[in-house]
Amino acid sequence: MGRSIPLVLKTAPLDVRGRALTDLRISVVDRCNFRCPYCMPEDQYPRDHAFLSKAERLRFEEIERLARIFVGLGVRKLRLTGGEPLLRRDLPELVRQLAAISGDVDIAMTTNGSLLAGKVDALRAAGLQRITLSLDTLDPKTFAVMSGGRGDVHAVLESVAAAERAGFASLKINTVVMRGVNDGQVLDLVGHFRGTRHIVRFIEYMDVGTCNDWQRELVVPSAELRERIGARWPVVALEANYGGEVAQRYAFADGAGEIGFISSVTEPFCGDCSRARLSADGRLYTCLFARSGHDLRGPMRAGASDEDLAGLIGAVWASRDDRYSEERSEMRASERSRVEMYEIGG
Ligand code: GTP
Ligand code: 5AD
Ligand code: SF4
Ligand code: SF4
Repeated sequence: MGRSIPLVLKTAPLDVRGRALTDLRISVVDRCNFRCPYCMPEDQYPRDHAFLSKAERLRFEEIERLARIFVGLGVRKLRLTGGEPLLRRDLPELVRQLAAISGDVDIAMTTNGSLLAGKVDALRAAGLQRITLSLDTLDPKTFAVMSGGRGDVHAVLESVAAAERAGFASLKINTVVMRGVNDGQVLDLVGHFRGTRHIVRFIEYMDVGTCNDWQRELVVPSAELRERIGARWPVVALEANYGGEVAQRYAFADGAGEIGFISSVTEPFCGDCSRARLSADGRLYTCLFARSGHDLRGPMRAGASDEDLAGLIGAVWASRDDRYSEERSEMRASERSRVEMYEIGG
């Protein structure tokens, strides 16, 4: 039995920096069928790598229970991530359970798109509202490099088409940009999706995890990309959709849609970061760059009540002081010891 906390929280307290908890990213599995060099490089994650076992992973009922508690504490967005979330069998069933949680909750998923085409109708029917798909380049050779030799760009494009047919009219397309790898193909991507309702967002290559051998020289600052894109298709800045949005939004001046930039390296956005992350084995991380997570599975499996768990989560959030991206420049590489991106899904 977990330690009993008498206080029944109505909403999570603000963290040390006055930030609310409104957004929960749920990693449903730590495995991935890709080996993107910026996340899970092949040489460090061979096929026989020891990922979490089934018993270690949270069951759907456990995820639903925690999600319901988080919603009770003020969370309004649940985003399913991985690894690759669609490697978790029967994911639509989890979506169905999450969609049944009462309250006005946005349910989204971030996927690499390789397995989406065959599952998108079931996900839609289960109540999934939004999909973000990763696509770093349209060039098949570069795509192979950026997926660690595992991915096929045509499968991802087929998933885009299948998602449109299923009724997901506006997808978000995440593109990690690495200098000398795919930065030369950015205009092709923009040109491809201009005029559709899909929103391409360029993500600065980040020093997440410990194994991608990150070097600042490989980061292409968003300001540079924005200039390159704007020279071809002029863009105008848009207001954020909501406080704490990670992407800076831009519209094409000619009305052909929207693009975005996620500039965690050159323009950190920790100031209003409202995101918590739940790993597939039930640990709560309060930052993408956290060194460790707080175990929720242990207390839950030991019989903690919903109130106990809400108290635990509230206490973790109340003591949160993370602002890694703002601190990055002050830190030495030797000080890095942190969760891997595929454990908490970005
Ligand atoms: P919506 O705005 O609701 O569509 O979602 P989102 O942009 O929060 O989610 P998405 O998964 O598309 O996030 C885009 C990417 O931004 C992530 O995959 C990460 O690479 C990066 N990112 C998201 N949240 C954070 C964060 O808190 N810190 C940092 N440094 N990067 C983040
Ligand atoms: N830097 C920036 N983005 C990353 N992602 C994974 N690793 C990194 C990194 N090192 C992105 C993926 C995906 C999302 C979940 O996180 O491309 O869009
Ligand atoms: Fe690539 Fe996403 Fe898989 Fe990481 S989890 S290897 S970023 S597809
Ligand atoms: Fe939030 Fe940490 Fe990212 Fe800053 S670095 S925006 S605190 S997740």
